Amino acid sequence: MKQLLVAIFAIPMLLFLTLISELWRNNEEGNSSTISSKIPISSLQQPYLPDRNIKYTKNGRRTHHFSILQKVERENVHMKPFPHLVIREALPQDIYSRIDSNFPPSDLFQKINSFRKVSAGKQNFGKENYRYDILPKEIREFLPEPYPSLLEYHSSCAFYLEVRDLFEEGIQRFRPDFYKFLNNKNLCSELFSEGKKDSGEDELLMAMRVGINSPSKIASSNKGPHIDRMSEIFGSLLYVRNESDKTAGGDFHIHSCRRRCSRILNLLKKNKQLESPLLKIIKTVKYEANTLVFFINSPLSIHSVGLRHPGNFNRQFLSIYGDVMKISKKYVHDESCCSNCVEGVIGCKFL
Ligand SMILES: *[C@@H]1O[C@H](CO)[C@@H](O)[C@H](O)[C@H]1NC(C)=O
Ligand SMILES: *[C@@H]1O[C@H](CO)[C@@H](O)[C@H](O)[C@H]1NC(C)=O
Repeated sequence: MKQLLVAIFAIPMLLFLTLISELWRNNEEGNSSTISSKIPISSLQQPYLPDRNIKYTKNGRRTHHFSILQKVERENVHMKPFPHLVIREALPQDIYSRIDSNFPPSDLFQKINSFRKVSAGKQNFGKENYRYDILPKEIREFLPEPYPSLLEYHSSCAFYLEVRDLFEEGIQRFRPDFYKFLNNKNLCSELFSEGKKDSGEDELLMAMRVGINSPSKIASSNKGPHIDRMSEIFGSLLYVRNESDKTAGGDFHIHSCRRRCSRILNLLKKNKQLESPLLKIIKTVKYEANTLVFFINSPLSIHSVGLRHPGNFNRQFLSIYGDVMKISKKYVHDESCCSNCVEGVIGCKFL
């Protein structure tokens, strides 16, 4: 009798457990959005774990609940005048509102900076419309969630693969120097993140900074048209505008050359910033909450931050980037970039 009872309960129980574990297994491996949408989103207080909160975009691209690129499909990538994309409402509201409500106030920037060594780029506070940063090591040490998790995801192999997936053509056309390097390497084993112990063999630095431009009493532009250092492969800004901030300006401009680019590029090499009638603005990305602008950095990736009107608010953002600083001498040849640059023939030469 007892055995019969055990059997009556045990058999359905076993079947049930098998079903559950089967579902679970599918969840772990799944790639369709129907499967991934069933994975519970863990509390954001929990640190980033590589296998948690994986998502798939509508077109089946693998992404993550922390990714600034989670709403992006390949068709959102524009190639002119350099590879870039702009996405509004880039992050889901649950993460964004935590970023917003925990955004460090000026005095925290200052305090964190006061611990920084001069050799690590200690900054002087008090300047107007000036950029201050919280560096990766400091994010890990001093900032609450979701900042450390955002940093971990955006320094991960998974994020690198997202960038490569979306921008492969852009990198190939605009950064042939890096593309060649990328193709020769299993880069995922070569990633490193600023402020982590460095094995010495690392190649691509992927990191995030939390940044502000301090307020200004007069209208001013803090960054005229420029290109970033050539060791930077990609750069981005996710704006974290305070909802009470009504200050006009501080928008991101994308520039292209009016005619041939070669002249302007030679001038840009000599000048850190350049206002010139040879340049025109072809796109403006408004400084708005949760708006992302992401680009491949190249000799043609000319951008600027527009005039900011006077106000009391910091211009707040996250900056997520990839850089080959350590190996740039080996792989990036600034001088040869666009040495015979005409429209249509662009990029750096790989030597
Ligand atoms: C995930 O996608 C890949 C490529 O599209 C496919 O080969 C694989 O079988 C898929 N896995 C699952 C569990 O659906
Ligand atoms: C926005 O700015 C106001 C005034 O400085 C501040 O009190 C408030 O906490 C800020 N909001 C957020 C979400 O940080």
